Amino acid sequence: MIKPSTIDDIKNAMDIVEVVGDFVTLKKSGSSYKALSPFTAEKTASFYVVPSKGIFKCFSSGKGGDAITFVMEVDGLSYVEALKYLANKYHIEIEEEIQTDEIQQAQNHRESLYIVLKFATEYFQDLLNSHEEGKSIGLSYFKERGFSEETIATFSLGYSLNIWDHFYQAAIKKGFSKEQLEEAGLIVSKEEKIYDRFRGRVIFPIHNVTGKAIAYGARILASDAAKNQPKYLNSPETELYSKGQVLYGLFQSKQHIRQKDNCYLVEGYTDVISLHQVGVNNVVSSSGTALTEDQVKLMRRYTQNVTVLYDGDAAGIRASFRGIDILLEGGLNVRAVSFPDGEDPDSYSRKLGATAFTHFLNEKVVDFIKFKTSLLIDNVKNDPIKKAGVVREIVESISKINDAIKRSVYLKECSDLLKISEGVLIAEQNKILIANNKNKQNQRSQDVQEPIFVPLEEEVLTVTDFVKIISYQEEESIRVLLNYADEIIHDTGDERLSLMNYFISESEEIVFSHPVYDRILRAMIERSKQSLPINLEYFLGVEDPEIQKTIIALSAPKYEISEFWKSKYHIEVPKEVDFIKDLTYSNILRLKFRVIQHLIDLENEKLKLANEEEVDQILDEISEMKQTEMQIAKILGNVTVK
Ligand code: CTP
Ligand code: MN
Repeated sequence: MIKPSTIDDIKNAMDIVEVVGDFVTLKKSGSSYKALSPFTAEKTASFYVVPSKGIFKCFSSGKGGDAITFVMEVDGLSYVEALKYLANKYHIEIEEEIQTDEIQQAQNHRESLYIVLKFATEYFQDLLNSHEEGKSIGLSYFKERGFSEETIATFSLGYSLNIWDHFYQAAIKKGFSKEQLEEAGLIVSKEEKIYDRFRGRVIFPIHNVTGKAIAYGARILASDAAKNQPKYLNSPETELYSKGQVLYGLFQSKQHIRQKDNCYLVEGYTDVISLHQVGVNNVVSSSGTALTEDQVKLMRRYTQNVTVLYDGDAAGIRASFRGIDILLEGGLNVRAVSFPDGEDPDSYSRKLGATAFTHFLNEKVVDFIKFKTSLLIDNVKNDPIKKAGVVREIVESISKINDAIKRSVYLKECSDLLKISEGVLIAEQNKILIANNKNKQNQRSQDVQEPIFVPLEEEVLTVTDFVKIISYQEEESIRVLLNYADEIIHDTGDERLSLMNYFISESEEIVFSHPVYDRILRAMIERSKQSLPINLEYFLGVEDPEIQKTIIALSAPKYEISEFWKSKYHIEVPKEVDFIKDLTYSNILRLKFRVIQHLIDLENEKLKLANEEEVDQILDEISEMKQTEMQIAKILGNVTVK
C-alpha cells in the first residue's frame, strides 16, 4: 500500500497539462487546451484539458477526470500503477506500508511482473557492462555496430550469458519465484528442466510508453550465426506484453515525435537505434509484424504525420503496401522514403553519417500514395489487365482516407500519373465507398454513418464563414416559403398540411440571425396563425423598404427553366414545387446544423475566458450540443441534398 501522505504529495505535484502532454499534442485555446482524443480516432479535436481545475474531458468517448484517471485510462493502468508512474515522473519517493495481505498481493500481480522485468533488464545491462563475457562479446558487438555508450544506455541494451540457467539461478536467489519468471517470459520449463529463454545473446528490452520493460528481443551474435539458431528470439506474449500493442522505441522517441510532429516508421530494433544515433530520434518500429490498429492509435497520440522508411527490393516493398492502408484509415498523413538497393535505414545512416543522412531523408521523402502509384505503374508496361489491377489498388488506398477533399486531390494527381481520366477514378472510388458504406451499415447499423457525397468537414471554415452560410440557409428558407408557403404538401382528407405549417412545426425554436430574414419569418408565422395567405402581394404591401427589397430579390422560383425544357425538348424536369417538402426538410436540417456548429464555436470562445465556476457548465453545454450535432449530421448523411 502506498502511504496516504505519499499520495497527497503526488496529487500536489501533478500538473494535468504536463501529464496529458506526454501522451497527446495539446494546443492552447484560451485558458484551456485542446487535442485530438487519445481514446478514439476522431478527426476534430474534442478533447479538453482545463488546467485551472486539473481535469481533462473527452467528448467523443465521454471519459474525464484528473491526471491519475487520465494515466489509468490512457495506459490501461491500475490506480496504484498510475500513482507510481506519476511519482516517478515527479521524482517522489514512494513510501509503501509493509504489505502482508495476500489479497493485496494478488492484486499486485502485474506490479510484481514489472519488478521481475526491471530486475532482469538491469541484470542483463550489468552483464553487458561489467562481466568479462558480456564486455568481450556483447559490448564489443554493439560497439562494432557503431552504438555509442549513450545509445546503449538510452535503450537499456544488455547481454545474457551463454549458460543454461545462469539468469534463473540469480533471480531465484534474489527471491523471485519460478512462476513469476515463467509468467514474465524469462525462463522456459520443459519436462522438469528449467532454462533461460535468452542465452548468449545481446538483449534489446522493449518498453511500454511509460518506460517500463515489458519484453525482450534477443539477437544472436555474429560468430554464432552459423549455429542454425534464429537470429532474433523474442519474449512470448504475456500479461504485460502483447506484440500488436507496442511500438519499439516509442518511449525513447515520443517527446521528439511530438516536437518534430512526425514519426519515422522502420522495420526493427537496429534501425530505431541507429537512427537515434544520427540524431533522427523520432522513430519507432512495429517489431517485424504487420501494423495493428492499436499501434496506429498509439502513434496518433503524438503526431498525425508518419514517414515509412522502406528498404529492400521493389517486390518486397510492393508486398508491404497493404499494411500501410491501416495508417491511412487511421487518419494519418503518410509519406515514404525508399533506400538504395542493399541498404536499410541502419546501414545507410551509418554509411552517410548524421548530416548527409538527414539531408537524404528530407530530399527523398514523397507522399505515400504517389510513391505507391509510381512504383506499381513501373511494373505494368503496356498490359491493360495489370493496369486495371493497379488502378483498383491505388483507388482502394485513396478511399481509405477519411477526408473528401484530400481524396479528390489524390484522384486528380493519380489521374496524371496513371494516365487515366479523373472521372473513371472517381467512379471507381464511389463504387468502393458505397460498398464500404453498405458493409459498415450492415455490420453496425447503430453507428453514425458518415456521409459520402456531402462532406460535412467544415473544420477549415472560420466563424465568419459560418455566419455567411447560416445567412444563406436562412435566405433559402425564406425564398422557398415565399414561393410555396401555402402549397399543400400533405393531404389525407382529414388533415391538410401546408409547407408553412410544416416549417413551423419543424423549426419553431429557430430565430433567424439575419434581422431582415427574421422579420419576414415572424410576419409569415403571424399570417399563418391567422390563416391569411402568405404571398408576394402581401409582402410588397408591407411598409418596410428592406423587406420589400429582399422579397423582390427572392420571389422567383429557382427552376423556371423546366417549362422551357418541356415545351422545347419534351423533357420533364421536376419543378421545384415537386420537391419542396424535401427541400424544406433539408434546409431546416442544414440550418439547424450550422446554428449548432456556430453555437459550439461561441461556447468554445467562452471557454477561453471562463473562470473556474463556469467551466463545468460550459463543457456540459458543449457536450450536449455535440450530441445534437452528431444526430443532425447522421440524418443529413442520409438525406439527399442537391
Ligand atoms: N528482425 C526480427 N527477427 C528476425 C530478423 C529481424 O525481429 N528473425 C527484426 C529486428 O528488429 C531487426 C530488424 O528486423 O532489427 C532488421 O533485421 P536484420 O537486418 O536482419 O537484423 P540486424 O540485427 O540488423 O542484422 P544484420 O546485422 O545482419 O543487418
Ligand atoms: Mn540489419
